[in-house]
Amino acid sequence: MQYFNIIQALCRSALATPNEATKHQVKRLRDILEKDGHTKEASSLEGLLLSSGKGLDMAPSKIQKSFVIHSGEQLTTKTVIPVDKETSTPLAEIFFPIDLPSEMPIFDENIQSAIESIINEWLKFDQLLEINAIPASSCLIYGLPGTGKTHLAKWIASQIGLPVVLARLEGLMSSYLGTTSRNIGNLFTFANRYKCILLLDEFDAIAKLRNDPQEVGEVKRVVNTLLQSLDSRHEKGFTIGVTNHESLLDPAIWRRFDIQVEIPKPSTDVIIRLLNKFVLPLKFSETEIKFLTWCLEGSSGADAEMLSKWLKRAYVLETDPNIVAIMKQFALLNSGRVDAVKRNIMLRSDEDFISALLANKTLSFKQKDVALLFGMTASSLSKHLSKNKDI
Ligand SMILES: Nc1ncnc2c1ncn2[C@@H]1O[C@H](COP(=O)(O)OP(=O)(O)OP(=O)(O)O)[C@@H](O)[C@H]1O
Ligand SMILES: [Mg+2]
Repeated sequence: MQYFNIIQALCRSALATPNEATKHQVKRLRDILEKDGHTKEASSLEGLLLSSGKGLDMAPSKIQKSFVIHSGEQLTTKTVIPVDKETSTPLAEIFFPIDLPSEMPIFDENIQSAIESIINEWLKFDQLLEINAIPASSCLIYGLPGTGKTHLAKWIASQIGLPVVLARLEGLMSSYLGTTSRNIGNLFTFANRYKCILLLDEFDAIAKLRNDPQEVGEVKRVVNTLLQSLDSRHEKGFTIGVTNHESLLDPAIWRRFDIQVEIPKPSTDVIIRLLNKFVLPLKFSETEIKFLTWCLEGSSGADAEMLSKWLKRAYVLETDPNIVAIMKQFALLNSGRVDAVKRNIMLRSDEDFISALLANKTLSFKQKDVALLFGMTASSLSKHLSKNKDI
C-alpha cells in the first residue's frame, strides 16, 4: 500500500510517548484499514499498539543517549559496501529500517516475552551501563530451519530502529578459502564504522569447513579471526548471529554471544495463528484451520507459509476446490514439509485420516465438522466409522 511505510513511521513515533488520544487515532486507522481489507497494514498497527507502553517504546531520548546505538557514522544508500577481492561479491547487504519487517514473528508467549526483554535491554543500554549492570550486546538465535529466525533478527533490528548489515557467512566463505579471514576482518571493520546492527546469518557455515581435513589450518585461522572480530565488536554495536546447527559451532564462538535464544518448531497454537495470517486474504472456517493445523504439526512456519501459497493457488485455479484433496496433494508433493507419520495417515485411506483427526485431543474435532470436510453427512460418517470398527 502506497505511503504506508511513512504512515507507519509516524504512528511509531507518536506511540513512543503514548497517550490516550494518540492511541485512539491509531486504533481508528487500524480499524479503517482492516475494514477496507488492508489486513497486513492493520495488523502491523496492531503490533505497534501492543508494544506501546510495554517498555518497547522508542523514546528518542533513550535512543540518542545510548552509546552503542549512537556511535558510528550513518549508513546511507550511497555507502560503499566492501567486496570480496577475488569475486567482487559484496560482503554484506544493507537493510534500512524501512525495509525491515514491521510485524513480529509469531511465537509462544514465553519466547515472545524473552525477545521483548532483549529489545528492552538494548534500548536501555546506557541506563544499564550507568549502574554497572553490563548489558548484553550480542545474541545468538538458533533453531530448526524455517522457524522464523532470520525474520526475528530483522524484526529486532526494526524495533531498535537501526539499519542491518546482513552478512551471509556462507557467501563470505565461498570458493576462495584463503581469503575468508580477510573478508571477515573487512566485514567487521565496516560494521564497526557505522551505526548498525550486524547480522551474521547462516553462522554454521564456518563449522562446515571443519569437515574438510585439508582445511584444518585455514579453519583455525578463520575461527580465530572471528573470535577477535566478535571481541572487537563488543563496544561498537549490537550483533546477532543466526544458525541452524548450533551444536557445530565452536564453543569459544558460542561463548562470545551474551544471549542465546532457541526458536523451537511451532506449537499447535502457533501453527493456527501462522495459518490464519498466511492464508489471508482467503478466509477459512475454524474447522478448516484446525484440519490444516493437524496436518502441519511437526512442520515449520516456513512450511505453513508454503502450504498457504499452495492453497491460494488452488483456490484461484480450481472451480470447486476441496481442502482435503489439496492437503493430500501438498503432502504428496512436499514430502519434506509434512511429518512422515502424518503423511502416511493422510495418504493411506480416508477412514484412517478421519479416525486420526477425531482421536486428536488437542484440536477436538466434532464428527459433524469432519464429515463436512470429507463431503459426507454426519450419519454416513458415523456409519462408516462403526463399520470400520467392526472389521
Ligand atoms: N514464527 C514465525 N512467524 C512468522 N513468520 C514465520 C515464522 N516462522 C517462519 N516464518 C516465515 O517463514 C519464512 C522463513 O522464515 P525465516 O527465513 O526467518 O526462517 P529461518 O529460521 O531463518 O530459516 P533458515 O534456517 O532456513 O534460514 C519467512 O517468510 C517467515 O516470515
Ligand atoms: Mg534464516
